[in-house]
Amino acid sequence: MRAARFHSFGAPDVLVIEDVDRPQPGPGEALVRIRAAAIQPFDSRVRSGRLMPNLTLPVTTGNEFAGMVESLGPETAGPAAGTPVAGRRTFGAVAEYVVVPVGDLAVIPAGVSFAEAATLSGTAQTADTAVESLGIGVGDTLLIQGAAGGIGSFATQLAIARGARVIGTGSPANIDYLRALGATPLTPGPDLPRRIAEVAPDGLTAILDCVGGETLDQSLTLGVPRDRIASLGDLGRVAELGLRSVEGLRDGVRLARLLDLAAQGKLLATVRSTYPINDIVAAHRELDTGHGRGKIVIAID
Ligand SMILES: NC(=O)c1ccc[n+]([C@@H]2O[C@H](COP(=O)([O-])OP(=O)(O)OC[C@H]3O[C@@H](n4cnc5c(N)ncnc54)[C@H](OP(=O)(O)O)[C@@H]3O)[C@@H](O)[C@H]2O)c1
Repeated sequence: MRAARFHSFGAPDVLVIEDVDRPQPGPGEALVRIRAAAIQPFDSRVRSGRLMPNLTLPVTTGNEFAGMVESLGPETAGPAAGTPVAGRRTFGAVAEYVVVPVGDLAVIPAGVSFAEAATLSGTAQTADTAVESLGIGVGDTLLIQGAAGGIGSFATQLAIARGARVIGTGSPANIDYLRALGATPLTPGPDLPRRIAEVAPDGLTAILDCVGGETLDQSLTLGVPRDRIASLGDLGRVAELGLRSVEGLRDGVRLARLLDLAAQGKLLATVRSTYPINDIVAAHRELDTGHGRGKIVIAID
């Protein structure tokens, strides 16, 4: 089978398409023929060696996928061969086949494409756990820094569905998009605190940071208690700063709920761009810009 792998850390062009053995499902596992994968900044950080520098290489990149069940492992109950499913697995998603525990899969409902399902499989789950961890609900005014991206676009919609008001930051090109998601859009900048005060005179009650660095530093000055600030953009500083941690609770049950919301038209999955697997290097170059709306998808035909 074809797989997008890297044998050394570095720029996007360390990624190569190789022919490797198809994995075999064990007990409790399914073999999935992947039709679409979604990529995220984690993939870039691992590929470049900034994260997990002691990882044993080669590694097949990608964590989010959608496709069809090919077969189940021995004595395994699960969706029948041919059932469309989505799921996440740490590494191995940008390939023709992946093996994954059955409990991490969710059936894709009618009306949701493989590409849309792939974008929901990991990132929407993390966005959901972030909104849940912050306890977002009616009466909240939530600032999402980096609201147009993968996490931000899902978190914006999920927080609004819980009754919160969302103020979302993004680049000028994404302002209309953020408004369409239901957020009050603002561009980033040193005068952001003044502009937030104009649109939210009663103040913010919670912050979700999807950017990190100076953006997180600025967020700390906005009068929100630290246990109501979560940062996915700077995970390494969460404990040191005493911020709310986001639990990595991702499984087939949560994913099935999010896929159902998408099927009902209540959760928009935005595909920023789609690349065939052979163009994985170009896809990672776009990922490395750090800008854009929604998710980048890899088509695996
Ligand atoms: N995806 C996941 O499942 C996951 C899981 C755990 C942690 N994380 C982490 O969470 C962070 C966000 O992930 P993601 O998947 O949402 O990444 P993403 O899709 O690349 O989105 C990041 C967004 O940040 C915006 N941005 C960049 N600089 C900004 C600034 N100074 N102010 C405001 N917005 C800015 C960009 O939009 P503009 O074009 O508008 O600038 C971009 O859309 C990353 O650090 C990632 O590693 C992600």
